[in-house]
Amino acid sequence: MQVARTVVELRQSLAAWRKAGERIGLVPTMGALHRGHMALVAAARAACDRVVATIFVNPKQFAPNEDLGAYPRREAADLDLLQSAGVDLAFVPAAGEIYPPEFSTLVRVGGLSEGLCGAHRSGHFDGVATVVAKLLIQSLPDSAYFGEKDYQQLLVIRRLVRDLDIPVRIEGVATVREPDGLALSSRNAYLSPGERRVAANLARVLSEIAAALEREPSGVAREIARGRAELASCGFALEYLEIRDAENLAPVTRVVRTPCRVLAAAYLGRTRLIDNMPITRSASD
Ligand code: PAJ
Repeated sequence: MQVARTVVELRQSLAAWRKAGERIGLVPTMGALHRGHMALVAAARAACDRVVATIFVNPKQFAPNEDLGAYPRREAADLDLLQSAGVDLAFVPAAGEIYPPEFSTLVRVGGLSEGLCGAHRSGHFDGVATVVAKLLIQSLPDSAYFGEKDYQQLLVIRRLVRDLDIPVRIEGVATVREPDGLALSSRNAYLSPGERRVAANLARVLSEIAAALEREPSGVAREIARGRAELASCGFALEYLEIRDAENLAPVTRVVRTPCRVLAAAYLGRTRLIDNMPITRSASD
């Protein structure tokens, strides 16, 4: 596996592969890799001739009060994992490579970035959109892989490439979970053993809400109230719990035939957890 630290090195390898007609898949990450990230790598490996993974803890997507300094960094272990998963090239730039002095461009995806996590993490999606636009333009892959775990992020990125005509397919990959349902996340490492036991209730409550609304589409307000109360009684401090249209994140008061999603963010102690699940109605409804 090659390790590139500069955009010039990255582009050299990619140019050779592109010239040989090889299909290139890109997997952007912030490192501290787990099986969720590796599912993206596996999806890229299955569909592409060359897989490029990036590891960059992007300072622009952390608000000043957030965990940029504490975010887990494990480069050597991450590179071992990527190599054993068959990644061809890891791009591991320093912050100055991505944001040279006087960097002054910000990419903002209006609308989609504003509610849900965007309402609680000021500037977060602008930071994500800016770095993802750069990574896509630097590597110009055929496909890029993102997890449904960060569902709003996935939709923001789809809109970004559509609006800016970046010629790449954005592939969404289903959320990888622990056996008790907890969505894998680099931030799970912050949880105490007691919090870890409680954490799985987030996924449980979301899947119960999804199942209830699949049975009874008009029960949105009731299910949200029940979910809020249940999460609070488990010890979560809820940021949001909402049912949204799965394609444009518009609020819904009733689950109709268009696909919907239940999405939540909640603190357990000092750890912020997010999760979401599909709500699918059968065609006969
Ligand atoms: P990071 O949190 O490292 O996640 C990298 C990718 O892995 C994202 O697309 C995310 O949705 C996916 N992922 C994380 N946990 C997952 C899980 N349990 N199952 C499936 N996929 C999962 O998301 C980011 O980094 C950054 O915002 C980034 C896109 C790299 C831009 O900086």
